[in-house]
Amino acid sequence: MSPYIYIFIVLQVIFFTQTTAEAPRWKLNDGHEIPALALGTWLGNTSKPVSDEVVHAVRWAIDAGYRHIDTAWIYRVEDQVGRGLKGYKREDIFVTTKLWNDKHARDAVVPALRQSLKDLQLDYVDLYLIHWPVGQFGNQTYDTTDYLDTWRGMMEAKELGLTRSIGLSNFNQHMIDRILEAGLEKPAALQVELNLNLQQPALLDYCKKNSIVVMGYTPFGSLFYNKAKSDAPPPRVDDPALVEIAKKYNKTVPQITLRYLVELGVIPLPKSLTKSRIEQNIDIFDFSLSESDKNILKGFDKNYRTIPQYKWLDHPYYPFEKPEKH
Ligand SMILES: NC(=O)c1ccc[n+]([C@@H]2O[C@H](COP(=O)([O-])OP(=O)(O)OC[C@H]3O[C@@H](n4cnc5c(N)ncnc54)[C@H](OP(=O)(O)O)[C@@H]3O)[C@@H](O)[C@H]2O)c1
Ligand SMILES: *[C@@H]1O[C@H](CO)[C@@H](O)[C@H](O)[C@H]1NC(C)=O
Ligand SMILES: *[C@@H]1O[C@H](CO)[C@@H](O)[C@H](O)[C@H]1NC(C)=O
Ligand SMILES: *[C@@H]1O[C@H](CO)[C@@H](O)[C@H](O)[C@H]1NC(C)=O
Repeated sequence: MSPYIYIFIVLQVIFFTQTTAEAPRWKLNDGHEIPALALGTWLGNTSKPVSDEVVHAVRWAIDAGYRHIDTAWIYRVEDQVGRGLKGYKREDIFVTTKLWNDKHARDAVVPALRQSLKDLQLDYVDLYLIHWPVGQFGNQTYDTTDYLDTWRGMMEAKELGLTRSIGLSNFNQHMIDRILEAGLEKPAALQVELNLNLQQPALLDYCKKNSIVVMGYTPFGSLFYNKAKSDAPPPRVDDPALVEIAKKYNKTVPQITLRYLVELGVIPLPKSLTKSRIEQNIDIFDFSLSESDKNILKGFDKNYRTIPQYKWLDHPYYPFEKPEKH
């Protein structure tokens, strides 16, 4: 056999047997780049997890091609994310974490990020977000610190090099406008709930115009029966229209919903602790949806929120539309 043919076969084996997928990187308004899909790491409650499930998830994710991990101080898994990242090159992975509600005082922000960095065993994160506009003291009473002051603390954290970029989570358009009108640094990203039932076209449009990248949390919404509340609108994972679209592209229904978010210009943050699902959820960058299929998916938008946080309705900075009964 000619050595050239041999080399050719070896290269084929190297390039076509690898199963990793990678997400494209999108430009942030501060010049940095962000991978367009992240592993979510919230376990669904705020009790301290007892096992190392997130360590494994992070390692499976990176091996499958993920280059972005989304976490938060309140998830109580930053230590696990840190252990999961061991052995990989720091500069290859984009790490997002978030400031909790009890650290809204301007001078509490830098110490809070230092604590997160200690737990993550990192010198810096790539993106630090204010988790909610709603401030609360440790005893759960409201802290009504103006989020403009919290934002000034975020700017200081960036200045110190503790984070490359800064952004917001669960802020509404009016609140972002206030930050911009105050002449403060422009947020690089906004993380909000975004899924088939809550597509937020007006907010997406606003962020696009202001070059703020949108990250979509709870990207599966009420797709799975075990998570859907009884009042949740369709679709579920076995919805005939979704199953038909999935079949057409030889993908699963969860993959179709994630791909749709990417095509809306949103970075989905699917959470899974299951190796096969982690691998499946990033395998969405080798196809695109037709206009007519996107129109079908658009039809599921019902402005339905899975995380309305009604317990904070009375806070002056409650960010969402209030239900009519209030
Ligand atoms: N900024 C905020 O306020 C905020 C709020 C909520 C969430 N988040 C972020 O967004 C992330 C994702 O949101 P989320 O955790 O609420 O919900 P999600 O990612 O929409 O759904 C997670 C659920 O879907 C299951 N799942 C994942 N992939 C699947 C697949 N391919 N097939 C079938 N089932 C699948 C998971 O099960 P298994 O794990 O058992 O596989 C888990 O039960 C969070 O982890 C967090 O990082 C941010
Ligand atoms: C929190 O979630 C974890 C992971 O799903 C579960 O093992 C644990 O029992 C839950 N804790 C509480 C108090 O609900
Ligand atoms: C809650 O904590 C805040 C801040 O420490 C304090 O000012 C306030 O008095 C406390 N309220 C109650 C009811 O304990
Ligand atoms: C369909 O997808 C599966 C899983 O990714 C793959 O193994 C299979 O080869 C694909 N089939 C076709 C016809 O592309």
